[in-house]
Amino acid sequence: MTTDTVYLNGAFMPLAEARIPVLDRGFIFGDGVYEVIPVYSRRPFRLREHLRRLQNSLDAIRLRNPHSTAHWSRLIRAIIARNEPEDQSVYLQVTRGVAKRDHAFPSGTRATEFIMSNPLKIPSREHVVHGVSCVSANDFRWLRCDVKSVSLLGNCLLRQYAVDHRATETIMFRDGYLTEASSSNVFAVKDGVLLAPPKNHLVLPGITYDVVIELAKGARMPLAVREIAEAEVRGADELWVTSSTKEVLAVTRLDGKRVGSGRPGPVFKRMHKLYQDYKRTVMRGK
Ligand code: PDD
Repeated sequence: MTTDTVYLNGAFMPLAEARIPVLDRGFIFGDGVYEVIPVYSRRPFRLREHLRRLQNSLDAIRLRNPHSTAHWSRLIRAIIARNEPEDQSVYLQVTRGVAKRDHAFPSGTRATEFIMSNPLKIPSREHVVHGVSCVSANDFRWLRCDVKSVSLLGNCLLRQYAVDHRATETIMFRDGYLTEASSSNVFAVKDGVLLAPPKNHLVLPGITYDVVIELAKGARMPLAVREIAEAEVRGADELWVTSSTKEVLAVTRLDGKRVGSGRPGPVFKRMHKLYQDYKRTVMRGK
């Protein structure tokens, strides 16, 4: 039996021994931010970009970053080294720390820092080859979805809605336009053009989203970053969801109806190959 090793407030320890006080503002208010970083063959993928987004999230909630990028990198590499799987999903969380319950920020408290690792579960071959089913819902979350906040109740309810309907994800619309899915970004393809909703306060700026856009530009694929109306999503030739753990996945059914031909499309197949090739190249070079 292997023991999961985690990092909590300056020390490495078995997961079962990690404890935080009940007055932690992460527990009481969901007052914190997080990152999920995929690790392939023990190498963190796009670490710099994840740490930059962590900084943006901390700035947005007015919480001082307890560490430099170099120090976070050392901590993350230490967690990777202390855990067994070659491919891992590293979870990092920072909260505003422990204080008597009061909505306003406490002064002089130390942030709570936590890092853990789970085995990375990339999509099964079955899902890559046949695609996945999604459902849709109105996006009822708050208006700062660009912050990777641990306050994920809206996302949890929306993800459970997908599970209740035997679907992989819930794709969301706000005021008639596509935002994202409960834990991934969404792309559409129409007449050979890759469509991506713009990065704004209504969506999480996905690291995988950026990789997909870069790869599309590099391959000179027709690309339009713009608002996408609900009707365009329902009439799309292809839909994809992207995230650090899902990578790029084709959505072949939406609300029980076929998306395009009902099979992963040619643009998806091209992007999936580009993504896998890119991953291999980046991982070799590090
Ligand atoms: N979720 N949008 C939302 C709401 C997300 O929660 C995520 C990621 C993404 C994709 O971001 P990225 O490509 O950086 O993983 C988009 C992570 C994996 C999670 O919460 O577990």
